[in-house]
Amino acid sequence: MSKIDLIIFGATGDLSARKLFPALFQLNAVGLLPDDLRIAAVARQHQDSAAFQNELRAKMTRYMRQDIDDGAWQAFSERIAYLTADFSEPRAFEGLQAWLDDGRMNLFYLATPPSLFAPICAQLSSDGCLNGPRRIVLEKPIGEDLATSGEVNETIGRYFDEQDIYRIDHYLGKETVQNLLVLRFANRFINSQWDQSCIDHVQITVAEKVGIEGRWTYYDGVGQLRDMVQNHLMQLLCLVAMEPPNSLEAESIRDEKVKIVKALRPLDVASIKDHVVRGQYSQGVIGGQSVPGYLDEEGCQSPESDTETFVAIKAYVDNWRWSGVPFYLRTGKRMPDKVTEIIIQYKALPHHIFGEGESAEPNRLVIRLQPNEGIEMAMVSKRQSLKDKLSLQTHTLNFDFREDADIDRIPDAYERLFLDAINGDPSLFVGREEIEESWRWCDQLIKACEEARLTVNSYQAGSWGPSKSELLIDRDGRSWHV
Ligand code: BG6
Repeated sequence: MSKIDLIIFGATGDLSARKLFPALFQLNAVGLLPDDLRIAAVARQHQDSAAFQNELRAKMTRYMRQDIDDGAWQAFSERIAYLTADFSEPRAFEGLQAWLDDGRMNLFYLATPPSLFAPICAQLSSDGCLNGPRRIVLEKPIGEDLATSGEVNETIGRYFDEQDIYRIDHYLGKETVQNLLVLRFANRFINSQWDQSCIDHVQITVAEKVGIEGRWTYYDGVGQLRDMVQNHLMQLLCLVAMEPPNSLEAESIRDEKVKIVKALRPLDVASIKDHVVRGQYSQGVIGGQSVPGYLDEEGCQSPESDTETFVAIKAYVDNWRWSGVPFYLRTGKRMPDKVTEIIIQYKALPHHIFGEGESAEPNRLVIRLQPNEGIEMAMVSKRQSLKDKLSLQTHTLNFDFREDADIDRIPDAYERLFLDAINGDPSLFVGREEIEESWRWCDQLIKACEEARLTVNSYQAGSWGPSKSELLIDRDGRSWHV
């Protein structure tokens, strides 16, 4: 592998301190970063490397909720050079150009607002920073609809080859999400029971306790649908629904995911009311603490905003495998708990032989992404008893990944993604077509919501969303798992 340098734009931003540098720090501490990897931290602020490193350490201590060992910090910080670059100035990347070494692979990481992706690439090019081998990592969101994501992809494509563009969806770096592939394609009994003949429905819940975390300006323009469904929930849905890829090559996996997005039934004005519920949180209590409503969040600029902070969708994948199986998707901010889980609800048996009062509950597979990463399978077995000859009970087989003897902690998604980007493995990154097809489906859904004037229902912070979201699934004789 050629020698590699990492150049992070937006190095003084929130994401860098919360996720990117902590992930790199952990990788360095366990010896997984290449020995000679250098890191350039690029941002507008004027300061030297020492000042940047001190501030970064203070922020990381806060976010990682632990003291950082002096020796480990010394070894890590030695890799980091801070470079000031104000994009409003001509030749903004002159300093960077001098720092770069064209003989090495340059891995550019854009942790900046997406509006800066194109100007940064153009400036890198005109300042002579794109002469050597290179890759680029882009944070979401890639555009805010099909048209704008196409523009971003088009622009980046002028400077980087498609195979060198690594679009992040950090959910793909989560251990349990990767495990979904293994679970499905390394276990014959699961794989052979994975279709409409066995599965009644699928639920995907991504619930967060947090609100918008001081990001009003960004969030109010997008809402939960664009912020979470278009990317994270769509990726989870694809991994559940896709056909086995031929191999673990990025192209192979992406091709199968794209087929699923294309098979999603479009929701139009006529169907939207029965398939989508939107909500916005009002003041409430979470974990004993009072939290403000969305419109009272810090930085609120439009007190009448009807941006949704919750959305529930009943979706169908119209293909042979999933014909008639509803996928209930639900995601919201300010829910009672942080829960990300996928539920595979199996169908009831066609015929009961165990006598009156002894109904066998249908099997259920629960894939817990966070917290308590693991897998649960609800299975029916005989109650151990001489008195009742054949009395049934449901037991849960529980596989808790944290008990895996080989690890002392579950790695953060960004650790996996950094490693893969450094090693040139794009299989856990998102392809252009996936993003654009996902926007195509979300765009028509958003348009249908607008045309049908779909209400944004209020829900109390600390609840599981508007009552209409319960109805969405109750109507079909089913219920949410949590
Ligand atoms: C981000 C969204 O992509 O994912 C945030 O922009 C959200 O709004 C976050 O809070 C959730 O990520 P995780 O890993 O905490 O579930």
